[in-house]
Amino acid sequence: MKIVLIGYMGSGKTTIGKLLSKKLNINFIDLDAYIESKLNASVSDIFKERGELYFRKMEHTYVQELMEEKKSFILSTGGGTPCYADNLGLIQTHTKHDFYLKLTIPNLVKRLIIGKESRPLVQNIAETDLPEFIGKHLFERNNFYMQANTITVCDDKTPEEIVAEIMQQLK
Ligand code: S3P
Repeated sequence: MKIVLIGYMGSGKTTIGKLLSKKLNINFIDLDAYIESKLNASVSDIFKERGELYFRKMEHTYVQELMEEKKSFILSTGGGTPCYADNLGLIQTHTKHDFYLKLTIPNLVKRLIIGKESRPLVQNIAETDLPEFIGKHLFERNNFYMQANTITVCDDKTPEEIVAEIMQQLK
């Protein structure tokens, strides 16, 4: 079984993926970490040295590589993954277990104030400009996210509650 978590930066894909992996005893893969290990460079450095387009090409290459594998896994994607190169279509030809971890803009802002430094797309955005930036960005990306087979609303839920909900959907 392949389970794929999608959602905006800071939506908790990695945290939920790791917890789900423990509960289901299925291997966890973080797409950003996978790309970093393949290219031997951090996502920040890839953006800085090769540009976003190169990152998007690599992201597509490795999503395809992973989705075509026979093995089971839980994959936490990057925030932009489903929005480029028909990656979501590709994901959905290999699994129906794709989950959009949905949060409101204010909750994403709260999380990204803490986590923005490691994320090239938001690291230069001033804290006060984050709500507007995320609002616009999410508006552009929502069309893709909302095509997920399952939409999991995560606001006000603990990681354990979110994982329990996902496990319920898998039955
Ligand atoms: C990106 C999100 C990041 C990473 C890259 C681009 C995006 O992953 O893939 O910085 O386009 O939203 P996280 O969602 O894990 O932060």
